[in-house]
Amino acid sequence: MEYRGYDSSGIAVTAPDDPLGAGIKLVKRAGKLKNLEDRITEIGADQFTGGTAIGHTRWATHGRPTDENAHPHRSFDEKVAIVHNGIIENFAALRKEVEGHGIEFASETDSEVAAHLLALAYNEGDTAGDFRASALKVLNRLEGAFTLLFMHAEHPGQIIAARRSTPLIIGVGEDEMFLGSDVAAFIEHTRNAVELGQDNVVVITREGYEVLNFDGSTSEGKPFTIDWDLAAAEKGGFDSFMMKEIHEQPAAVRDTLAGHFQDGKIILDEQHLSEQDLKYVNQVFVVACGSAYHSGLLAKYAIEHWVRIPVQIEVASEFRYRDPVLDERTLVLAISQSGETADTLEAVRHAKSQGAKVLAVCNTNGSQIPRESDAVLYTHAGPEIGVASTKAFLAQVAANYIVGLALAQAHGTKYPDEIAEIYASLEEIPAKIEQLLEVNTQVKEIADYLGTVKTMLFLGRGVGFPVALEGALKLKELAYIHAEGFAAGELKHGPIALIEDDLPVVIVVPSPKGVKQLHSKIVSNIQEIRARGAKTIVIAEEGDTSVEPYANWLIRIPESASIMQPLLATVPLQFLSAAIARNCGNDDIDKPRNLAKSVTVE
Ligand code: F6R
Repeated sequence: MEYRGYDSSGIAVTAPDDPLGAGIKLVKRAGKLKNLEDRITEIGADQFTGGTAIGHTRWATHGRPTDENAHPHRSFDEKVAIVHNGIIENFAALRKEVEGHGIEFASETDSEVAAHLLALAYNEGDTAGDFRASALKVLNRLEGAFTLLFMHAEHPGQIIAARRSTPLIIGVGEDEMFLGSDVAAFIEHTRNAVELGQDNVVVITREGYEVLNFDGSTSEGKPFTIDWDLAAAEKGGFDSFMMKEIHEQPAAVRDTLAGHFQDGKIILDEQHLSEQDLKYVNQVFVVACGSAYHSGLLAKYAIEHWVRIPVQIEVASEFRYRDPVLDERTLVLAISQSGETADTLEAVRHAKSQGAKVLAVCNTNGSQIPRESDAVLYTHAGPEIGVASTKAFLAQVAANYIVGLALAQAHGTKYPDEIAEIYASLEEIPAKIEQLLEVNTQVKEIADYLGTVKTMLFLGRGVGFPVALEGALKLKELAYIHAEGFAAGELKHGPIALIEDDLPVVIVVPSPKGVKQLHSKIVSNIQEIRARGAKTIVIAEEGDTSVEPYANWLIRIPESASIMQPLLATVPLQFLSAAIARNCGNDDIDKPRNLAKSVTVE
């Protein structure tokens, strides 16, 4: 679970036989999980055996990543331990109230308040001595988004957990039960999982589980079988998940496309939007964050070109706050690998409240965004463990193009043979990515020559522009160096002032088969920056000789239809960011600093 947060971690174990302690043993450490492992070894792993345990890997919201702020948190009487994901929005008022009882806080977190409140509820008043009733009492007082796990020293065989807006999944084993923020937590032990609804509480014991609502009434979860391969959560001979996932891209795109074109027609399965619904759509809004947003920019190019309806794209965190004009003829395309991103989820909720139809493009079965959307198109990239998105991004682009073709089919803006032709060029992509994977050797040489760069620019035009943005984002998050992506034509309106001797600039050159002026204009742009001393790393199609005189390095990608080029041009940039990151001293490219894989806070 470390990929979900890795600034600190901890565990708590119930140890009912411990004659000295209060029944709960706890250890936590700032930094990566390794620090916790080392600390446990130091103390002696046999000190942490018990029947029930909770653990946490943290991505800091309130309070710096220190030992004290790491989870689990313990109550003042040391009888309660809790872990929390999310934000308790009314924590300041609750903290004041708890401090009014003379209780001192050990951390700066919002989470700790839940441990003290539970102990107070258990120790006195109408819920005294009743773990479940005390937990429900506390949960009903919390505002915000949270997944919480509670354990109590006097109830060593039980864990009570709850979720509001953030994820929680049950794993059902034989004589053992699990809870996790995602299935990766227990995939090694069981394939049987249970999805919980919004505002559910679950009580687990070794024998089974019980699902409740926040008012204590009975509810139920939705059992499902995990179809992810266990090997998918292992590195399989690669030195990082990211490298493995880059190499899995041919399969990710192939599996995402599989089954969506049958008998000459685009099929969007798993959707509850009819062809009639799609025909009724007269505008599209795309909402997404980060890399998913970049994939959404490509959806805009494709849908406007193929369907001739306007497409607006917005980073999800801005969308609902600026009152976008939506109605029942608007289709909102919500793109999210995890299906949990809070910003995107809130955008979906806002879109639905305005009467728009929402189609999710998502990689994670049963996650919240598809659950709240009208329809879903799953990308089949398999679990993505590396924090920086690679294979999920390419799968999103492929899925977005399927959506574009489905809309074109419904609107009749493309003839069936044109749709078949575009789909066929999409189906050629996995083999071309496969071929392109060899480029890593050349890319490493370029990175070695560049050494520890301080800044880098990425330029693109047309569909190459989102690729430039994605290249810059990858480099920022992996190598921690300043990088910016620009539309190449914008350069002369300001950013060209940044060009100085030896500044590395990556240029994504559109296919010469596409819009002619676009290609020749970018060739001029390359000359302009070369003339000012930049070192140019040019990504161009095989056979495009026009760029040769202006490239310090020329990275060749296979020929493709011009709209498909991003599915290829992105790959060398992924390798480049990984290689530069290593040269800059970041060896753990799977877990770049300050980041987490699923961002479940707004
Ligand atoms: C970048 C990256 C992030 C995610 C973004 C959205 O490499 O991984 O920018 O793309 O946080 O995440 P999802 O797709 O899970 O909504």
